[in-house]
Amino acid sequence: MPTTNFEINGKTYAVSIDGCPEFRYGKNAVLAGVNTDIVYSQPWYAEGYTAADFLSVDEFAFLKSGLTASVKKIITEELGFDTHGFTLEKYHHFVRTNEEHYKVVSRTRDLFSADFNFPIEEMIPKFEKILGFSLTDIDPMLKEKLHIIVRINRPKSNDYNPPHKDIYEEVDKNDYIPPFVNFWIPIAGVTENSSLPIVPGSHQISEAEILRTFDGGVVEGNTYRVRMIREWSGSHTLERAAVKDGQVLLFSSHLIHGLAINEEEDLSRVALEFRLFKS
Ligand SMILES: [Fe+2]
Repeated sequence: MPTTNFEINGKTYAVSIDGCPEFRYGKNAVLAGVNTDIVYSQPWYAEGYTAADFLSVDEFAFLKSGLTASVKKIITEELGFDTHGFTLEKYHHFVRTNEEHYKVVSRTRDLFSADFNFPIEEMIPKFEKILGFSLTDIDPMLKEKLHIIVRINRPKSNDYNPPHKDIYEEVDKNDYIPPFVNFWIPIAGVTENSSLPIVPGSHQISEAEILRTFDGGVVEGNTYRVRMIREWSGSHTLERAAVKDGQVLLFSSHLIHGLAINEEEDLSRVALEFRLFKS
């Protein structure tokens, strides 16, 4: 069975790519530039990401308790389980099988659209202050409101995406680079063993040095919509982003990230993931 190796913080992972579409190098061009990356002028642009303070201790506690209540309610409604003593970190003690987990995550996508206690509208001004320009959650091309995704990643599970860049789908389908920036907010169980792996500086690598699929990916038998990146400048090495409770990880839409294997023994990892456009 074909496999490919990646390294995260010194640990090697061999993942199956059986059934994966063909891998090819791209053209000799760097896609990220002053007109194609809205974070180009940020002081942290050489690395392509930063962790910024954004919530007070009280605000973070409020956000986390709201999410805990929402996920707990979904478990009760979808699975009919007793959720006495539920915490996000112990999610995998309550939701034990893949089948149960998929039922829950099918609903966590819409958490923020309705009656959530911390709507994105209240967060946007904080992000605008960090970046110094206006942001919107309406996709300028599709005119659709973007959703915040609640990512729940159980210990030692396959609840992750392959290494990828968020821009590739639009680049491949429409030859278009959408003007957005990525946000990733730790909520529970984010540690040096579970945080999001990224490749610092990878947004400035020529496409001729990036080996990737051009139509989704298959890892460990799971099919993904994102194009899978297998190698960059001859490297397969990622590092876990250092980001703490109350902070937000901001990163270029051109930065390679993913393969967020949760290496914690007994902690589920929960993070919010979304994009915002320059308005
Ligand atoms: Fe992504």
